Amino acid sequence: MKMPLFPSLRHLSSLAAVAIFSLAGCDRQSADKESPGGAPKPGKTLTVGFSQVSAESDWRVAESKSIKDEAAKRGIDLKFSDSQGKQENQFKAIRSFIAQGVDAIILAPKVETGWEEILKEAKQAKIPVVLVDRGIKVSDDSLYVTLIASDFVAEGRLAGDWLAKKTSGKAQIIELEGSPGAAPAIDRKKGFAESIAAHPGMKIIASQSGDFETGKGKEVMETLLQQHGKDVTAVYAHNDNMALGAIEAIKAAGKKPGVDIPIVSIDAVRAAFTAMVAGELNCTIECNPLLGPLAFDAVEKARKGESLPKKTVIQDRVFDQSVAASELPNRKY
Ligand code: AHR
Repeated sequence: MKMPLFPSLRHLSSLAAVAIFSLAGCDRQSADKESPGGAPKPGKTLTVGFSQVSAESDWRVAESKSIKDEAAKRGIDLKFSDSQGKQENQFKAIRSFIAQGVDAIILAPKVETGWEEILKEAKQAKIPVVLVDRGIKVSDDSLYVTLIASDFVAEGRLAGDWLAKKTSGKAQIIELEGSPGAAPAIDRKKGFAESIAAHPGMKIIASQSGDFETGKGKEVMETLLQQHGKDVTAVYAHNDNMALGAIEAIKAAGKKPGVDIPIVSIDAVRAAFTAMVAGELNCTIECNPLLGPLAFDAVEKARKGESLPKKTVIQDRVFDQSVAASELPNRKY
């Protein structure tokens, strides 16, 4: 599968170079800025609030870095908030961004629901909200300007298709789910279920959330191995970090991960490639977190009143052990 993201990121970085604002005189420029919602004067420094879920996974750390790096590159004053995995902290951060009169808000939402009221507050203050990486469910989609994200259902399908091929359509699967209510957990479950439905010999024998974290993935896998150790023949993890935790649990149970129990996961972080090279992980489906350039392009366009697509879908690839060693040096996260 081709992945047009990197070429376009390269292209976008040249656009970014044009959009760099001078950091010198930043304070004075901020003082010159118009009130919240008013179009900033040309050449003035933009102030953007970014509400991040947490640092739960390697993927999310890479996403935060991409947004911070791109803000710095463009001379944008970034207000970063880590919600420690709590939606109510995201509400607090957004209210604080509104009170500070930011020019735009970038939001990586923890869960799909519950955003209506807070986004109405941002809209009332005329502050555009750009969603990155996870979608939300709202009755009025004018509450955000655009969503930039991967297709999580497609990722789940790719994982299911890969596992069906690997196991010739026969598998007793343990599924490690992401955080309850999060778009990637819901959609990756759906896509995977759709894919394996075509194979009567493939069955999910246990499914539990490991919250997208290595430690919790390990803990949950230990418990599920105690209950289903004799029956399990494959693992599907909604992200690489939980798969890495599962690898530890499988080893502790005296089995060989990737050999006795094939494992497929999602994200394609560097540690997943290292695990594939070691023969302990079999396949990872890419979910690209390097969203900074696209996010700030959207912010700048929204501030200029330019129209934006409601959703930009990032194209991702499938990587298995056969390409792991050659791809490892190319990984950017
Ligand atoms: O929303 C993207 C998911 O969230 C990534 O797969 C995962 O690692 C993360 O924390």
